[in-house]
Amino acid sequence: MTQSVDFEAVEKAARILSEGGLVAIPTETVYGLAADADNREAVLATYAAKGRPADHPLIVHVAGPDAIPFWAVDVPPEAWLLVKTYWPGPLTIVLKKSERCGTFVTGGQDTVALRCPSHPVAHALLERFAGETHKGLTAPSANTFGRISPSTAAHVAEDLGLKPEGKLDMILDGGPCEFGIESTMVNLSDGMPSILRHGVVTREMLEETLGFAVPDAGKNAPRASGRLKSHYAPHTKLELHDEASLLARASELADKRIAVMAPAELLARLPVHPVFTIAAESDPLAYGRALYENLHELDRAGADRILALRTPSTGPWAAVADRLGRAAA
Ligand code: TXA
Ligand code: MG
Repeated sequence: MTQSVDFEAVEKAARILSEGGLVAIPTETVYGLAADADNREAVLATYAAKGRPADHPLIVHVAGPDAIPFWAVDVPPEAWLLVKTYWPGPLTIVLKKSERCGTFVTGGQDTVALRCPSHPVAHALLERFAGETHKGLTAPSANTFGRISPSTAAHVAEDLGLKPEGKLDMILDGGPCEFGIESTMVNLSDGMPSILRHGVVTREMLEETLGFAVPDAGKNAPRASGRLKSHYAPHTKLELHDEASLLARASELADKRIAVMAPAELLARLPVHPVFTIAAESDPLAYGRALYENLHELDRAGADRILALRTPSTGPWAAVADRLGRAAA
């Protein structure tokens, strides 16, 4: 996806951020709610804007690997290998934080999450913003806490909105996000790389790069709100089904308004007329790219219930299955 960069808008965003403002920025995964990671007031304002508990850590977005030693200490060789392979791109690494990194960024933890986005607008902004001290931008997904993450500028405008009615000083429009689901997160802070959050950089890709097994992080892993069971939830209740139970459930709900997301072939076999349908993609990347937009649309359909066909849950489907599961929880 090529994206032209409006450098005047980038310049304006950098100025607002330097002055402690809040700017929604496009990334290749989802839109982020950016603030200057060195500015305590600004960072705390992002928690307030999202309605997110202040003990949830934020990702610091940086312009490149050169920033790592400014934000982290005890960086293991695996981190450099992953960064060399996947940055800029949808991979976040968790490391021991440096002295410079404030605990208002890390939710009081001694680790910091770092990510270098590949979206040309985010990248241009970070390069413009970084300066000699490799300044970074905290950026949680630009949605109200617990709601669906935004994959377009319009989602951000609808949810957080611009001041004075809304909460943001600026929304940088970079078009629809290339991947549409949040970055893969790998914990590299305790000697045993593990996956904190699945994304388009898959377990198989990480294992190929590192040459050993990379398990899911255990219960003692650092806190991550993306790991809460109910997250990314639409307002309308969402149920996941296999083929047979979806057809049966649709019959059962015959007197209700249902919205359905399933492959076209299955939609054609539904015994009832839903108020709204989405033909699900058969490719995991395409499914992921459209997922949050689809959840937004299904939510807007005014149905009593959303039914979706469960996807596979391994390999390239892991991230999609994870987000869909949480949306249904
Ligand atoms: O793709 C992404 O990562 C997007 C874009 C905007 O870059 N950002 C994003 O941020 O998804 P957020 O805050 O919505 O999700 C980051 C997740 C949260 O679940 C947070 O708890 C976790 O990362 N996290 C942040 N710092 C952490 C740390 N030091 N240790 C463990 N988890 C951490
Ligand atoms: Mg989020």
